[in-house]
Amino acid sequence: MTLPPKPPSRPDKVSLWRYVRLFRRDLLSAQPARLYRAWMAEFRTPFFRSYLLNQPDLVDLVLKERPDDFPKSDRIGEGLRPLLGNSLFLTNGETWKRQRRIIDPAFEGGRLRDTFTAMWQAADAAAKRLDKRAGEVVEIEAETSHAAADVIFRTLFSIPIEHEVATEVFDEFRRYQRGQPILNLAAFIPLPRWMPRLHRKSTRASAARIRDLITRLTRDRMAAIDAGTAPDDLATKIMTTADPQTGETFDTEEMVDQVAIFFLAGHETSASALAWALYLMALYPDWQDRLAAEAQVLDGPDFAVMSKLRLSRDVFRETLRLYPPVPMMVREAACPEHFRDRDIKKGSQLVLSPWHLHRHERLWDRPDDFDPDRWHTENGKACARSAYMPFSAGARVCTGAGFAMVEGPLILSRILRDFRVTLTDAPPPVPVAHLTVRSDRGIPLMVSRR
Ligand code: HEM
Repeated sequence: MTLPPKPPSRPDKVSLWRYVRLFRRDLLSAQPARLYRAWMAEFRTPFFRSYLLNQPDLVDLVLKERPDDFPKSDRIGEGLRPLLGNSLFLTNGETWKRQRRIIDPAFEGGRLRDTFTAMWQAADAAAKRLDKRAGEVVEIEAETSHAAADVIFRTLFSIPIEHEVATEVFDEFRRYQRGQPILNLAAFIPLPRWMPRLHRKSTRASAARIRDLITRLTRDRMAAIDAGTAPDDLATKIMTTADPQTGETFDTEEMVDQVAIFFLAGHETSASALAWALYLMALYPDWQDRLAAEAQVLDGPDFAVMSKLRLSRDVFRETLRLYPPVPMMVREAACPEHFRDRDIKKGSQLVLSPWHLHRHERLWDRPDDFDPDRWHTENGKACARSAYMPFSAGARVCTGAGFAMVEGPLILSRILRDFRVTLTDAPPPVPVAHLTVRSDRGIPLMVSRR
């Protein structure tokens, strides 16, 4: 069987400067192959110490058992702060806890059901866009990006991506990301403290424009809530929810921070996963046919249909295993620790890598194979509990995990119900870590009507 694309690993030993250069190019191929077998690894450089934790109980300790002792490192936000301000993606401690108390209720199961019609409409709109291109080779990442951005605007603000402000935000985000090459480095190779932190002028300007546009949407919504005319969507829910402990609601500025992260975290990630899922369907046409047959049940925005999209869900989960959109996360040790006979100094960076854990050779059966049926095997079930974390885990688990697990399988099925995707002559895409795991050269697929 052809294996799904995997990036090449670097040789075991390289100089620091070569490592930095490799890092600049891509986080994934800068790592040695032994990380797919290791329980823990140490990166020593003259500037810092980092540790990769790749053993399920250590990952649980950091994310689930003692999350307060392993806050997010300030350095993660360096590239993103001009855009995201004080969004819950970047905050820690009490501020973060308060923000989650206000936001979490909007993403609970019952509310997800309420957002389904908006997701359905976005899936339909994506299919209509593809219909215009049927018979052509389509760069599928661009299409899934469009679709996922549409989902966010429709569920959050009840506006489609064609809405003037939504389109502007979407375009500006693309510009922002192009001007953001430092992100990988700043996040994973903590720079020495004396190094100046420069955000490019164009990136700062781009962030300011995005925030202006989002401020307009948020202000208008605030006014509609006051006038009693606001639609019942995620923005209204979040903006009218008071913190049960303090009774406070978000002011406009803080809401803008949160909308920015919903947009960024919510659309880049889902777009990446959907693009890889469609590529895998082109690579494994038998699975594609099975999904297309299953998708015949889709005939209207009824949430109950989700329980019938089992294969699509298994494929989407397997895609998130092989291509976790957020490949690595970083935490900081707030106090000294002792892990696997190693003393970890206070302030050390701890890297948690869904990318490596999901392909761990000592944990998973045939870790590099595409096998959506694995979720029904003993090994698959055990690994799903202990070695699978596309949405992270514990207190800081992705707010949108439930949302993404509806949106992803739904759009995948909706597209495959009407279209067949096939490989082109282009060389196979190689995964690289940009803001999320993307293909090095896009994912061109031939799209034809079924
Ligand atoms: C396939 C889709 C998605 C994946 C794989 C994903 C993955 C993740 C991961 C791994 C984190 C933790 C990052 C860290 O701790 O450093 C995270 C956090 C977050 N995600 Fe998602 N996400 C997805 C979709 C979404 C959606 C649709 C939304 C919102 C609409 C969303 C909102 C957030 C937010 C707000 C956080 C920060 C939570 C916190 O720190 O408390 N994500 N996501």
